[in-house]
Amino acid sequence: MAVSVTTLLGHNVVRSVVLLTSLSLSFVKTVLVTGGAGFIGSNLVRHLLRTPVRVVVLDALTYAGNLANLDGVIDGERCVFVRGTIGDRSLVAKTVTTYAVTHLVNCAAESHVDRSIHDSRPFLETNIMGTQVLLDVAREMGIQRFLQMSTDEVYGSLTATDEPFSTYSPLRPSSPYSASKAAADMLVGAAVHTHGLHAIVTRCSNNYGPYQFPEKFIPLMIVNALSQGPLPIYGDGRQVRDWIHVDDHCRGVMLALEHGNAGDVFLFGGNAERSNLDVVTRIVQLTGASASLIRHVDDRPGHDRRYAVNTSDVEHTLGWKPIIPFEEGLEDTVRWYAEHSTWWQAILSGEYRTYVEQTYPAPSAGQPS
Ligand code: NAD
Ligand code: DAU
Repeated sequence: MAVSVTTLLGHNVVRSVVLLTSLSLSFVKTVLVTGGAGFIGSNLVRHLLRTPVRVVVLDALTYAGNLANLDGVIDGERCVFVRGTIGDRSLVAKTVTTYAVTHLVNCAAESHVDRSIHDSRPFLETNIMGTQVLLDVAREMGIQRFLQMSTDEVYGSLTATDEPFSTYSPLRPSSPYSASKAAADMLVGAAVHTHGLHAIVTRCSNNYGPYQFPEKFIPLMIVNALSQGPLPIYGDGRQVRDWIHVDDHCRGVMLALEHGNAGDVFLFGGNAERSNLDVVTRIVQLTGASASLIRHVDDRPGHDRRYAVNTSDVEHTLGWKPIIPFEEGLEDTVRWYAEHSTWWQAILSGEYRTYVEQTYPAPSAGQPS
Protein backbone atom coordinates (compact mmCIF):
# COMPACT_ATOMS: atom_id res chain seq x y z
CA MET A 1 0.00 0.00 0.00
CA ALA A 2 1.31 3.39 -0.99
CA VAL A 3 1.18 5.05 2.43
CA SER A 4 3.54 2.66 4.15
CA VAL A 5 6.00 3.11 1.30
CA THR A 6 6.06 6.89 1.84
CA THR A 7 8.44 6.68 4.73
CA LEU A 8 10.84 4.39 2.88
CA LEU A 9 11.17 5.89 -0.58
CA GLY A 10 11.98 9.24 -2.20
CA HIS A 11 9.14 11.53 -3.26
CA ASN A 12 9.27 10.82 -7.02
CA VAL A 13 9.15 7.09 -6.49
CA VAL A 14 6.37 7.54 -3.98
CA ARG A 15 4.42 9.65 -6.43
CA SER A 16 4.75 6.94 -9.06
CA VAL A 17 3.70 4.27 -6.60
CA VAL A 18 0.68 6.32 -5.58
CA LEU A 19 -0.22 7.01 -9.21
CA LEU A 20 0.19 3.39 -10.22
CA THR A 21 -1.85 2.17 -7.28
CA SER A 22 -4.48 4.76 -8.07
CA LEU A 23 -4.64 3.86 -11.74
CA SER A 24 -4.82 0.16 -11.07
CA LEU A 25 -7.88 0.85 -8.92
CA SER A 26 -9.28 3.46 -11.37
CA PHE A 27 -9.37 5.68 -8.32
CA VAL A 28 -7.47 8.89 -9.00
CA LYS A 29 -8.65 11.51 -6.55
CA THR A 30 -7.51 14.67 -4.86
CA VAL A 31 -9.65 15.33 -1.84
CA LEU A 32 -9.85 18.82 -0.39
CA VAL A 33 -10.61 18.56 3.33
CA THR A 34 -11.64 21.96 4.68
CA GLY A 35 -11.22 22.18 8.46
CA GLY A 36 -8.72 19.33 8.19
CA ALA A 37 -6.67 20.63 11.13
CA GLY A 38 -9.61 20.27 13.51
CA PHE A 39 -10.72 17.22 15.48
CA ILE A 40 -12.76 15.21 12.97
CA GLY A 41 -11.01 16.69 9.93
CA SER A 42 -7.55 15.58 11.08
CA ASN A 43 -8.78 12.09 11.89
CA LEU A 44 -10.45 11.95 8.47
CA VAL A 45 -7.23 13.01 6.75
CA ARG A 46 -5.45 10.04 8.32
CA HIS A 47 -8.22 7.70 7.15
CA LEU A 48 -8.12 9.11 3.61
CA LEU A 49 -4.34 8.72 3.41
CA ARG A 50 -4.73 4.99 3.96
CA THR A 51 -6.33 4.94 0.49
CA PRO A 52 -4.65 5.93 -2.78
CA VAL A 53 -5.61 9.60 -2.83
CA ARG A 54 -3.95 12.95 -2.45
CA VAL A 55 -5.26 15.19 0.32
CA VAL A 56 -5.25 18.97 0.47
CA VAL A 57 -6.12 20.54 3.83
CA LEU A 58 -7.55 24.05 3.81
CA ASP A 59 -7.91 25.41 7.32
CA ALA A 60 -8.09 28.89 8.82
CA LEU A 61 -6.41 27.67 12.02
CA THR A 62 -8.96 29.29 14.30
CA TYR A 63 -8.57 28.61 18.03
CA ALA A 64 -9.84 25.06 17.27
CA GLY A 65 -7.48 24.27 14.39
CA ASN A 66 -4.18 22.76 15.38
CA LEU A 67 -1.33 21.77 13.08
CA ALA A 68 -0.11 19.39 15.76
CA ASN A 69 -3.21 17.32 14.90
CA LEU A 70 -1.51 16.63 11.56
CA ASP A 71 2.00 15.96 12.89
CA GLY A 72 3.84 13.56 10.59
CA VAL A 73 1.05 13.72 8.01
CA ILE A 74 1.69 16.86 5.94
CA ASP A 75 4.53 16.20 3.49
CA GLY A 76 3.81 18.86 0.85
CA GLU A 77 3.26 16.17 -1.79
CA ARG A 78 0.65 13.61 -0.91
CA CYS A 79 -0.74 15.76 1.86
CA VAL A 80 -0.62 19.52 1.37
CA PHE A 81 -1.60 22.25 3.83
CA VAL A 82 -3.07 25.63 2.87
CA ARG A 83 -3.93 28.18 5.53
CA GLY A 84 -7.03 30.26 4.82
CA THR A 85 -10.73 30.66 5.27
CA ILE A 86 -13.46 28.92 3.28
CA GLY A 87 -15.06 32.36 2.99
CA ASP A 88 -12.23 33.52 0.71
CA ARG A 89 -13.60 32.64 -2.70
CA SER A 90 -10.45 33.37 -4.72
CA LEU A 91 -8.27 31.35 -2.33
CA VAL A 92 -10.66 28.40 -2.50
CA ALA A 93 -10.79 28.60 -6.31
CA LYS A 94 -7.02 28.87 -6.55
CA THR A 95 -6.53 25.89 -4.23
CA VAL A 96 -8.95 23.79 -6.29
CA THR A 97 -7.15 24.69 -9.53
CA THR A 98 -3.60 24.40 -8.21
CA TYR A 99 -4.14 20.92 -6.83
CA ALA A 100 -6.72 19.67 -9.37
CA VAL A 101 -9.19 18.89 -6.60
CA THR A 102 -11.80 16.27 -7.56
CA HIS A 103 -13.60 15.75 -4.22
CA LEU A 104 -14.39 18.17 -1.41
CA VAL A 105 -15.29 17.30 2.20
CA ASN A 106 -16.35 20.32 4.22
CA CYS A 107 -15.43 19.85 7.87
CA ALA A 108 -14.64 23.54 8.42
CA ALA A 109 -16.99 25.03 10.95
CA GLU A 110 -17.46 26.86 14.17
CA SER A 111 -18.52 23.80 16.14
CA HIS A 112 -19.08 24.65 19.81
CA VAL A 113 -22.66 25.30 20.98
CA ASP A 114 -21.63 27.37 24.03
CA ARG A 115 -19.62 29.77 21.88
CA SER A 116 -22.57 30.21 19.50
CA ILE A 117 -24.72 31.31 22.44
CA HIS A 118 -22.24 34.04 23.34
CA ASP A 119 -21.55 35.22 19.76
CA SER A 120 -23.34 33.74 16.76
CA ARG A 121 -21.66 35.87 14.09
CA PRO A 122 -18.64 33.64 13.30
CA PHE A 123 -21.09 30.71 13.06
CA LEU A 124 -23.16 32.45 10.41
CA GLU A 125 -20.07 33.59 8.52
CA THR A 126 -18.27 30.26 8.41
CA ASN A 127 -21.04 27.69 8.63
CA ILE A 128 -23.46 29.40 6.25
CA MET A 129 -21.60 31.92 4.07
CA GLY A 130 -18.44 29.80 3.95
CA THR A 131 -20.39 26.72 2.87
CA GLN A 132 -22.05 28.71 0.08
CA VAL A 133 -18.63 29.82 -1.19
CA LEU A 134 -17.51 26.18 -1.33
CA LEU A 135 -20.70 25.15 -3.14
CA ASP A 136 -20.25 27.94 -5.71
CA VAL A 137 -16.61 27.07 -6.37
CA ALA A 138 -17.42 23.35 -6.53
CA ARG A 139 -20.02 24.01 -9.19
CA GLU A 140 -17.94 26.44 -11.21
CA MET A 141 -14.89 24.18 -11.19
CA GLY A 142 -16.75 20.93 -11.84
CA ILE A 143 -15.81 19.16 -8.62
CA GLN A 144 -17.02 15.57 -8.87
CA ARG A 145 -18.28 15.08 -5.33
CA PHE A 146 -19.03 17.39 -2.44
CA LEU A 147 -19.68 16.14 1.08
CA GLN A 148 -21.08 18.45 3.73
CA MET A 149 -20.31 17.23 7.26
CA SER A 150 -23.38 18.12 9.29
CA THR A 151 -24.77 17.12 12.64
CA ASP A 152 -27.69 15.33 14.28
CA GLU A 153 -28.28 18.58 16.20
CA VAL A 154 -30.19 19.96 13.19
CA TYR A 155 -33.09 17.78 14.36
CA GLY A 156 -33.30 19.52 17.74
CA SER A 157 -34.00 17.75 21.01
CA LEU A 158 -35.78 14.48 21.90
CA THR A 159 -37.73 13.60 25.04
CA ALA A 160 -36.87 10.39 26.88
CA THR A 161 -39.65 8.50 25.08
CA ASP A 162 -39.28 9.91 21.54
CA GLU A 163 -38.12 7.67 18.70
CA PRO A 164 -34.47 8.34 17.68
CA PHE A 165 -33.80 10.76 14.81
CA SER A 166 -34.11 9.37 11.31
CA THR A 167 -33.53 11.04 7.95
CA TYR A 168 -37.29 11.70 7.91
CA SER A 169 -37.22 13.73 11.13
CA PRO A 170 -38.06 17.42 10.65
CA LEU A 171 -35.26 19.97 11.06
CA ARG A 172 -35.80 21.79 14.38
CA PRO A 173 -32.44 23.26 15.35
CA SER A 174 -32.42 24.93 18.74
CA SER A 175 -29.06 26.70 19.16
CA PRO A 176 -27.42 29.31 16.92
CA TYR A 177 -24.83 26.61 16.11
CA SER A 178 -27.35 23.99 15.00
CA ALA A 179 -29.44 26.62 13.18
CA SER A 180 -26.36 27.62 11.18
CA LYS A 181 -25.66 23.96 10.34
CA ALA A 182 -29.29 23.40 9.27
CA ALA A 183 -29.09 26.49 7.04
CA ALA A 184 -25.95 25.11 5.41
CA ASP A 185 -27.68 21.76 4.82
CA MET A 186 -30.51 23.58 3.05
CA LEU A 187 -28.01 25.42 0.85
CA VAL A 188 -26.44 22.10 -0.10
CA GLY A 189 -29.90 20.75 -1.00
CA ALA A 190 -30.54 23.85 -3.10
CA ALA A 191 -27.23 23.40 -4.98
CA VAL A 192 -28.20 19.81 -5.81
CA HIS A 193 -31.72 20.72 -6.87
CA THR A 194 -30.96 23.93 -8.77
CA HIS A 195 -27.50 23.34 -10.18
CA GLY A 196 -27.22 19.56 -10.28
CA LEU A 197 -24.18 19.56 -7.97
CA HIS A 198 -23.22 16.07 -6.81
CA ALA A 199 -23.44 16.83 -3.10
CA ILE A 200 -24.13 14.65 -0.07
CA VAL A 201 -24.91 15.57 3.53
CA THR A 202 -23.84 13.47 6.51
CA ARG A 203 -25.30 14.05 9.97
CA CYS A 204 -23.57 12.49 12.93
CA SER A 205 -24.07 12.30 16.68
CA ASN A 206 -21.49 13.33 19.32
CA ASN A 207 -17.95 12.28 18.42
CA TYR A 208 -15.14 11.54 20.84
CA GLY A 209 -11.56 10.33 20.36
CA PRO A 210 -7.99 11.64 19.87
CA TYR A 211 -7.30 15.29 19.01
CA GLN A 212 -10.64 16.68 20.23
CA PHE A 213 -10.29 20.25 21.46
CA PRO A 214 -10.63 20.29 25.26
CA GLU A 215 -13.66 22.61 25.33
CA LYS A 216 -15.95 19.72 24.37
CA PHE A 217 -17.45 17.57 27.11
CA ILE A 218 -15.40 14.35 27.02
CA PRO A 219 -11.91 15.86 26.51
CA LEU A 220 -12.68 18.68 28.97
CA MET A 221 -13.63 16.15 31.64
CA ILE A 222 -10.60 13.95 30.92
CA VAL A 223 -8.11 16.83 30.93
CA ASN A 224 -9.58 18.33 34.11
CA ALA A 225 -9.74 14.94 35.84
CA LEU A 226 -6.09 14.28 34.93
CA SER A 227 -5.15 17.70 36.36
CA GLN A 228 -7.37 17.36 39.47
CA GLY A 229 -9.49 20.30 38.23
CA PRO A 230 -13.27 20.82 38.64
CA LEU A 231 -15.64 18.78 36.42
CA PRO A 232 -18.50 21.19 35.54
CA ILE A 233 -21.83 19.48 34.86
CA TYR A 234 -24.53 21.66 33.35
CA GLY A 235 -27.84 21.51 35.22
CA ASP A 236 -28.89 18.10 36.51
CA GLY A 237 -26.46 16.23 34.22
CA ARG A 238 -29.25 13.90 33.02
CA GLN A 239 -29.00 15.11 29.40
CA VAL A 240 -28.32 12.26 27.01
CA ARG A 241 -25.96 12.14 24.04
CA ASP A 242 -25.35 9.29 21.57
CA TRP A 243 -21.56 8.89 21.57
CA ILE A 244 -19.65 7.66 18.52
CA HIS A 245 -15.91 7.11 18.18
CA VAL A 246 -14.43 9.43 15.56
CA ASP A 247 -12.97 6.43 13.67
CA ASP A 248 -16.45 4.99 13.16
CA HIS A 249 -17.66 8.38 11.91
CA CYS A 250 -14.73 8.75 9.49
CA ARG A 251 -15.37 5.28 8.09
CA GLY A 252 -18.96 6.30 7.40
CA VAL A 253 -17.92 9.55 5.72
CA MET A 254 -15.53 7.70 3.41
CA LEU A 255 -18.31 5.29 2.39
CA ALA A 256 -20.76 8.15 1.85
CA LEU A 257 -18.23 10.01 -0.29
CA GLU A 258 -17.62 6.92 -2.39
CA HIS A 259 -21.13 5.53 -2.75
CA GLY A 260 -23.56 8.38 -2.04
CA ASN A 261 -25.86 9.71 -4.72
CA ALA A 262 -26.47 13.42 -5.26
CA GLY A 263 -28.88 14.71 -2.63
CA ASP A 264 -28.41 11.78 -0.24
CA VAL A 265 -28.47 12.42 3.50
CA PHE A 266 -26.73 9.88 5.75
CA LEU A 267 -27.24 9.73 9.49
CA PHE A 268 -24.47 8.23 11.66
CA GLY A 269 -24.66 7.43 15.36
CA GLY A 270 -22.87 5.28 17.90
CA ASN A 271 -25.89 3.42 19.36
CA ALA A 272 -24.46 4.47 22.71
CA GLU A 273 -26.85 6.76 24.55
CA ARG A 274 -25.36 7.86 27.88
CA SER A 275 -26.22 10.60 30.35
CA ASN A 276 -23.56 13.21 31.03
CA LEU A 277 -23.40 12.08 34.66
CA ASP A 278 -22.77 8.47 33.61
CA VAL A 279 -19.96 9.57 31.28
CA VAL A 280 -18.24 11.77 33.85
CA THR A 281 -18.54 9.06 36.51
CA ARG A 282 -16.78 6.62 34.19
CA ILE A 283 -14.05 9.18 33.39
CA VAL A 284 -13.49 9.69 37.12
CA GLN A 285 -13.04 5.92 37.52
CA LEU A 286 -10.71 5.59 34.52
CA THR A 287 -8.47 8.49 35.58
CA GLY A 288 -8.47 7.63 39.27
CA ALA A 289 -9.67 11.18 40.06
CA SER A 290 -11.92 11.99 43.01
CA ALA A 291 -15.70 12.13 42.43
CA SER A 292 -15.71 15.22 44.63
CA LEU A 293 -14.35 17.15 41.60
CA ILE A 294 -17.81 16.91 39.98
CA ARG A 295 -19.63 20.27 40.28
CA HIS A 296 -23.16 21.04 39.13
CA VAL A 297 -23.10 24.47 37.48
CA ASP A 298 -25.73 26.66 35.75
CA ASP A 299 -27.39 24.94 32.82
CA ARG A 300 -26.66 25.87 29.19
CA PRO A 301 -29.47 28.15 27.90
CA GLY A 302 -31.81 26.15 25.65
CA HIS A 303 -29.90 22.95 26.46
CA ASP A 304 -31.05 20.07 24.24
CA ARG A 305 -32.14 17.20 26.47
CA ARG A 306 -31.48 14.13 24.37
CA TYR A 307 -30.01 13.08 21.02
CA ALA A 308 -30.36 9.56 19.61
CA VAL A 309 -29.90 8.26 16.10
CA ASN A 310 -31.53 5.46 14.16
CA THR A 311 -28.74 3.95 12.03
CA SER A 312 -30.78 1.27 10.24
CA ASP A 313 -30.84 3.35 7.02
CA VAL A 314 -27.05 3.58 6.68
CA GLU A 315 -26.65 -0.06 7.68
CA HIS A 316 -28.84 -0.87 4.70
CA THR A 317 -27.57 1.66 2.14
CA LEU A 318 -23.85 1.81 2.98
CA GLY A 319 -23.35 -1.44 4.90
CA TRP A 320 -22.02 0.69 7.77
CA LYS A 321 -22.46 0.35 11.48
CA PRO A 322 -20.48 1.57 14.47
CA ILE A 323 -18.01 -1.08 15.61
CA ILE A 324 -16.18 0.56 18.53
CA PRO A 325 -18.03 -0.10 21.80
CA PHE A 326 -18.31 3.09 23.86
CA GLU A 327 -16.67 1.66 27.00
CA GLU A 328 -13.66 0.48 24.96
CA GLY A 329 -13.41 3.71 22.95
CA LEU A 330 -13.63 5.85 26.08
CA GLU A 331 -10.90 3.87 27.81
CA ASP A 332 -8.63 4.26 24.74
CA THR A 333 -9.42 7.98 24.62
CA VAL A 334 -8.58 8.51 28.29
CA ARG A 335 -5.30 6.68 27.67
CA TRP A 336 -4.59 8.85 24.60
CA TYR A 337 -5.05 12.08 26.58
CA ALA A 338 -2.94 10.74 29.45
CA GLU A 339 -0.14 9.92 26.99
CA HIS A 340 -0.43 13.21 25.04
CA SER A 341 -0.39 15.78 27.81
CA THR A 342 2.07 17.97 25.88
CA TRP A 343 -0.56 18.27 23.10
CA TRP A 344 -3.32 19.59 25.36
CA GLN A 345 -1.03 21.52 27.71
CA ALA A 346 0.28 23.54 24.73
CA ILE A 347 -3.32 24.40 23.83
CA LEU A 348 -4.34 25.28 27.37
CA SER A 349 -1.28 27.46 28.01
CA GLY A 350 -1.85 29.46 24.81
CA GLU A 351 1.62 28.47 23.61
CA TYR A 352 0.11 26.93 20.47
CA ARG A 353 -1.69 30.14 19.45
CA THR A 354 1.50 32.15 19.76
CA TYR A 355 3.33 29.57 17.67
CA VAL A 356 0.68 29.71 14.91
CA GLU A 357 0.66 33.48 14.70
CA GLN A 358 4.45 33.59 14.49
CA THR A 359 4.92 30.65 12.14
CA TYR A 360 1.87 31.04 9.90
CA PRO A 361 0.90 34.70 9.69
CA ALA A 362 -2.62 34.98 8.26
CA PRO A 363 -2.31 34.91 4.44
CA SER A 364 -3.53 37.82 2.37
CA ALA A 365 -6.72 37.15 0.40
CA GLY A 366 -6.39 34.84 -2.57
CA GLN A 367 -2.85 33.67 -1.78
CA PRO A 368 -2.35 29.99 -0.98
CA SER A 369 0.19 29.98 1.87
P1 NAD B 1 -13.44 21.53 15.29
O1 NAD B 1 -13.93 22.79 15.91
O2 NAD B 1 -12.57 20.62 16.06
O3 NAD B 1 -12.66 21.86 13.93
C1 NAD B 1 -13.12 22.83 13.03
C2 NAD B 1 -11.95 23.16 12.09
O4 NAD B 1 -12.43 24.10 11.13
C3 NAD B 1 -10.76 23.82 12.79
O5 NAD B 1 -9.56 23.25 12.32
C4 NAD B 1 -10.86 25.27 12.39
O6 NAD B 1 -9.60 25.93 12.33
C5 NAD B 1 -11.48 25.14 11.02
N1 NAD B 1 -12.19 26.36 10.60
C6 NAD B 1 -13.08 27.09 11.31
N2 NAD B 1 -13.51 28.13 10.57
C7 NAD B 1 -12.91 28.03 9.36
C8 NAD B 1 -12.97 28.79 8.16
N3 NAD B 1 -13.75 29.87 8.06
N4 NAD B 1 -12.22 28.38 7.12
C9 NAD B 1 -11.43 27.30 7.20
N5 NAD B 1 -11.31 26.56 8.31
C10 NAD B 1 -12.06 26.91 9.37
O7 NAD B 1 -14.75 20.78 14.79
P2 NAD B 1 -15.04 19.21 14.68
O8 NAD B 1 -15.59 18.74 15.97
O9 NAD B 1 -13.89 18.55 14.07
O10 NAD B 1 -16.26 19.24 13.65
C11 NAD B 1 -16.03 19.15 12.24
C12 NAD B 1 -17.38 19.19 11.54
O11 NAD B 1 -18.19 18.10 11.98
C13 NAD B 1 -18.18 20.45 11.84
O12 NAD B 1 -18.88 20.81 10.66
C14 NAD B 1 -19.19 20.02 12.89
O13 NAD B 1 -20.35 20.78 12.78
C15 NAD B 1 -19.42 18.57 12.48
N6 NAD B 1 -19.81 17.64 13.55
C16 NAD B 1 -19.10 17.58 14.72
C17 NAD B 1 -19.46 16.63 15.68
C18 NAD B 1 -18.72 16.50 16.98
O14 NAD B 1 -19.19 15.79 17.86
N7 NAD B 1 -17.56 17.12 17.14
C19 NAD B 1 -20.54 15.78 15.44
C20 NAD B 1 -21.24 15.88 14.23
C21 NAD B 1 -20.85 16.81 13.29
O1 DAU C 1 -24.47 16.01 18.29
C1 DAU C 1 -23.39 16.45 17.53
C2 DAU C 1 -22.82 17.70 18.15
O2 DAU C 1 -22.17 17.30 19.35
C3 DAU C 1 -21.86 18.44 17.23
O3 DAU C 1 -22.59 18.92 16.14
C4 DAU C 1 -21.18 19.61 17.96
O4 DAU C 1 -20.21 20.20 17.12
C5 DAU C 1 -20.52 19.08 19.20
O5 DAU C 1 -19.96 20.15 19.94
C6 DAU C 1 -21.53 18.33 20.07
O6 DAU C 1 -22.51 19.23 20.66
P1 DAU C 1 -22.93 19.11 22.21
O7 DAU C 1 -23.46 20.41 22.63
O8 DAU C 1 -23.75 17.91 22.44
O9 DAU C 1 -21.44 18.81 22.82
P2 DAU C 1 -20.68 19.36 24.09
O10 DAU C 1 -19.41 18.58 24.16
O11 DAU C 1 -20.57 20.83 24.12
O12 DAU C 1 -21.63 18.91 25.29
C7 DAU C 1 -22.02 17.55 25.47
C8 DAU C 1 -22.96 17.50 26.66
O13 DAU C 1 -22.24 17.84 27.86
C9 DAU C 1 -24.09 18.52 26.58
O14 DAU C 1 -25.25 17.96 27.17
C10 DAU C 1 -23.60 19.69 27.44
C11 DAU C 1 -22.80 18.98 28.51
N1 DAU C 1 -21.68 19.75 29.09
C12 DAU C 1 -20.76 20.29 28.23
C13 DAU C 1 -19.69 21.00 28.69
C14 DAU C 1 -18.68 21.62 27.74
C15 DAU C 1 -21.54 19.87 30.46
O15 DAU C 1 -22.36 19.35 31.24
N2 DAU C 1 -20.47 20.56 30.93
C16 DAU C 1 -19.55 21.16 30.11
O16 DAU C 1 -18.61 21.82 30.62
